[in-house]
Amino acid sequence: MAKYIIEKSGPLRGTVEISGAKNAVLPILAATLLTDEPCEIMDVPALSDVEVMVKLLESIGSRVSWDYRNKIITVESGKSLRNEAPRELVSLMRGSIFAMGPLLARTGRAKFPLPGGCAIGARPVDLHKKGFEALKAVVEMGDDYMEARARELIGGHVYLDFPSVGATENIMMAATLASGTTVIENAAEEPEITDLAVFLNKMGAKGKGAGSATIRVEGVESLHGTKHTVIPDRIETGSFMLAAAITRGDLLLTNVVPGHVSAVMSKLSECGVVFEENDEGLRVRADVNPLVATDIKTMPYPGFPTDLQSQFMSLLTVVRGHSTVTETIFEGRFKHIGELNRMGADIRIEDRKAEVEGGQPLRGARIRATDLRAGVALVLAALTAEGETEISDIHFVERGYEEFTQKMTKIGANIRRVED
Ligand code: UD1
Repeated sequence: MAKYIIEKSGPLRGTVEISGAKNAVLPILAATLLTDEPCEIMDVPALSDVEVMVKLLESIGSRVSWDYRNKIITVESGKSLRNEAPRELVSLMRGSIFAMGPLLARTGRAKFPLPGGCAIGARPVDLHKKGFEALKAVVEMGDDYMEARARELIGGHVYLDFPSVGATENIMMAATLASGTTVIENAAEEPEITDLAVFLNKMGAKGKGAGSATIRVEGVESLHGTKHTVIPDRIETGSFMLAAAITRGDLLLTNVVPGHVSAVMSKLSECGVVFEENDEGLRVRADVNPLVATDIKTMPYPGFPTDLQSQFMSLLTVVRGHSTVTETIFEGRFKHIGELNRMGADIRIEDRKAEVEGGQPLRGARIRATDLRAGVALVLAALTAEGETEISDIHFVERGYEEFTQKMTKIGANIRRVED
């Protein structure tokens, strides 16, 4: 098992090129099941979650080739596809469920093991089920699987009781090949949904409204192959902004869409971080003003993203002053707090709110990455801690951050990845 060894690092300086978005590429890869023609996806990050999705597509019957050097994946999902997803892959990545909607639409049946709970919460699938049923599929829930069947999907109307990203994407994909029009209300508005909609429309789908709370998809007979470059990863962007902030550094981030991270930029500006947009990218300066605390509350997009909550909390532990962090999206997303407290932080949890007494000096410790984003939060905290920090279970980090140690080392972080 690999781990990170981290020592206190000075202000991080230099340029970081942000990779393609994990959360955009996963549903887009799943969407390639909607056609038997080849699709070419560009700027694909080399991540273990992407590998899982590739294996899942292969297990269903797609031919996949991955040109790592040029970051291009080509998928061809020929005429004969299996209808079931293997448990061992679904258990590795909850995002596997994205393949269910397109497979159902393409073949009339899809049986998937239930992903179950995960490190950050229960993660139910009721909204995915509700969406498939709105398209007149018959859905059977077993103890540990979900199966949907439909001789023909028929456009329908669905209101999502919560704007779930995955359910919005699954329903959108299934609706592309349904007869008639589907309307998704209270849809998630994340940029990854818009990117998926752009990809689907390039394949010949007729979707409107992605990026707003109401999405309309007029079904078509069939879709065709296409090429697409995925959007930059806004969570990686935010994570490096926080790396600059916590070390009082000065970073230039390239391949970014500032509009996708405006909530994070607003909250960091309240703390005293200065942003400058120029032709090359977005400069993040935390060496101009003294940094102060602020409160954050996670919300569906365009609110503050849950995927940056733990990294922001690391910043708040080292900035002077009291702050609160409220997590409204996932109930299990405070597991990093125990690890931060072991490093000397003073954070108390009251239900879904964490009270942070910032400004405590942190010291190195032997700690564990408890999930993907929490792993990075601990790395950020470790950059400011006296002494050496050892972080185990870093496979979580490698699920979602491409070339993480290389990118961090290049800007001056004292981080080493070692095999146990
Ligand atoms: C996606 C992202 C993940 C991010 C999350 C929220 C991917 C691969 N993952 O996950 O990084 O943290 O959005 O921005 O894109 N829910 C239900 N019923 C359902 C589905 C979801 O109650 O059927 C609830 C969940 O328990 C959770 C909330 O909705 O409380 C948000 O989940 P959702 O938006 O579906 O997250 P994911 O799509 O799984």
